[in-house]
Amino acid sequence: MSDDLHDVENVDHGDVLNSPNYFGNVLTQALNRREVMRGGLSAAITATFAGTTLAACNSDGVNLAPVVGAKSIARSLADKVSLSEDYSASVLFATGDLLNGAGGDKALEAITGDEMATRSGDHHDGMYYYGLNAAGALDPNGSARGILAINFENINQQFLHANGPTSKSEAPDSTKPDVKITYRSVPDEVVKEINAHGVGLVEIARNASGKFAVVSGSTISRRITPETEMKLAGPVAGSKWVKTKYSPDGTKSRGTLNNCAYGYTPWGTYLTCEENWAGYFDNASTATPPVESSRYGIVKSQAGSYRWASASTTLAGIGTDDRFARWELNPKGADATADYRNEANTFGWVVEIDPVNAATTPVKRTTFGRMAHECAYPSIITPGKKFAFYQGDDSRFEYMYKFVPTQAWDAADATRGFAAGDKYLNDGTLFVAKFDPAGGSTGTWIPLVFGQNGLTAANGFADQAEVLVKTRSAADTVGATKMDRPEWCTVDHKTGDVFVALTNNTNRGVGTNPGVDAVNPRVNNAFGSILRIRETGSDPAATSFSWTISVFGAPATNAVNNVSQLTAENDFASPDGLWADQNGLLWIQTDNPHANEMGLLCNNQMLVTIPPTDMNTPPVIKRFLVGPSQCELTGIDITPDGKTMFVNIQHPGEETTVANLADPGKYTSNWPYDRADATKTGSKTARPRSATLVVTRKDGGTIGT
Ligand code: FEO
Ligand code: CA
Repeated sequence: MSDDLHDVENVDHGDVLNSPNYFGNVLTQALNRREVMRGGLSAAITATFAGTTLAACNSDGVNLAPVVGAKSIARSLADKVSLSEDYSASVLFATGDLLNGAGGDKALEAITGDEMATRSGDHHDGMYYYGLNAAGALDPNGSARGILAINFENINQQFLHANGPTSKSEAPDSTKPDVKITYRSVPDEVVKEINAHGVGLVEIARNASGKFAVVSGSTISRRITPETEMKLAGPVAGSKWVKTKYSPDGTKSRGTLNNCAYGYTPWGTYLTCEENWAGYFDNASTATPPVESSRYGIVKSQAGSYRWASASTTLAGIGTDDRFARWELNPKGADATADYRNEANTFGWVVEIDPVNAATTPVKRTTFGRMAHECAYPSIITPGKKFAFYQGDDSRFEYMYKFVPTQAWDAADATRGFAAGDKYLNDGTLFVAKFDPAGGSTGTWIPLVFGQNGLTAANGFADQAEVLVKTRSAADTVGATKMDRPEWCTVDHKTGDVFVALTNNTNRGVGTNPGVDAVNPRVNNAFGSILRIRETGSDPAATSFSWTISVFGAPATNAVNNVSQLTAENDFASPDGLWADQNGLLWIQTDNPHANEMGLLCNNQMLVTIPPTDMNTPPVIKRFLVGPSQCELTGIDITPDGKTMFVNIQHPGEETTVANLADPGKYTSNWPYDRADATKTGSKTARPRSATLVVTRKDGGTIGT
């Protein structure tokens, strides 16, 4: 880091981080007190209290944080899963494995496009475990058999094909032989890439040795891909924005894409969230830009990330196959019902999926708004009361939202399953967060409702459908707070407080970009923070809240940025996955760039803490697991008995180049080396794969305590 940058950050921290809103500040004050250093806080950090949720004060009345029982492990740069000696980890399923049968039967590059639609997709992300009883029905206490609902967010394209993606460059005009068009000349490769995205519903059960394995012959397991038919519901359904050649009346769409984090409902369904969908479309020759294209990042000159629209065996055949033509937004027909100019408008939504019934059609719930959806995580749900789903929009300077259904929760709906979705998710209010611009520790939820707060025809919103299709512009209009990339949200079962991972924003305060504010106080924020929000009156439907920053990420070696006094035992940066488990533990998963100051010290990792009930008590954080090289940790759940944890390892070795594909010794990761023991390294002979881990305690105890 340059001295210039240090200067900027010193000035910034001096001005902003003296706010009372930050645990880092509270902790710094506490550490300056001799009594605390001698006995209280330092003892709390090193002690272990198995299974406890201790909260206490020392003799000075300074709150001490409760701590978890698991040991904190050392940083690691090894190409393996690192855990304490008290835990073991194995691979449940990896990219390309059959999801209804034994896995690992084929080399990744040997799997065909159609085969991929029945197998584990790539880039395992958000995930939820649904327990089943012996009869195969949903059972909240089912810890021996269940369904993992899991997102397959993206792909490591190079590893899916023998020699990376195949393309040709040809001149369409013989008079201009030097003007060439490059296209994907092996369409099955594109089919494979498409089918490696989406969602999986995977039945798993304990085998004879008590270990979870994928169930062969399941009637529940299935894949949902970017080709699967979806219903559209809520105000946008049937509107002009979503009429396409596939659905001229705008009531359905095809597939879900770039599924990142998730949510779940109290009636037993899964919510998957569409994040970076904007990059998949060819838009190079579009004369009339798609609606909100600049706001959502559908760049006019952009060829889609993977060039799916160009798939054809011949140059002349490009655009003739509907499976590929749909990824090109250029108007070609007489109106929107004759082409795919509106295809991008069918993405950016929250999708509700029935985890147990393969005959159901997933539903895009447009009430949640359209954005780079990172999650839709439910509040505490109380019979007779309104509830909420918290959402992050993961782009620099985007917003944090919540959706509050109009209907209060009726516990009789708990067993209605998918049939209850229309009642709660088609009618409600989408709110966006505005933090006190004066720098106080409060904020308000502003409704994004047509006709209110400037969301009128005069400002470009004709009705509620337009407010939702243009959610980001609606949030701009009402003056919401531009955040440092909100990733996952989770809700602490004890307090109802919402934790939000603000992963980083290296553009904050740089050049003409927005500067710091109270809740986003770091210029060139490379390391992120975890925000804690407490609704007024603990009411998920409240329109105001208080907040604090629980912890700022930073390498312990970075004296300027390590305001939360992290150590080599627990330093981390770029929090991404967050999950509060049923035992009161908060799990933190990171997606830190591999080559920055933190990444050079430790691979991406998973940490754990117990959020103190008092928002002003700093949490004690422990490092629980470190992933293999160039992975990100994302996706986590634990069986209801607390004894089996599922964790996702995403994109190990992602920076391996196509030029190095012929030599596995040059891959930047070859994990997993041994599926039965994910903590092993080995010889560099195989392509790396994303995977879901099973983590257990060797003594059979509750995870993390
Ligand atoms: Fe898919 Fe924002 O992480
Ligand atoms: Ca994420």
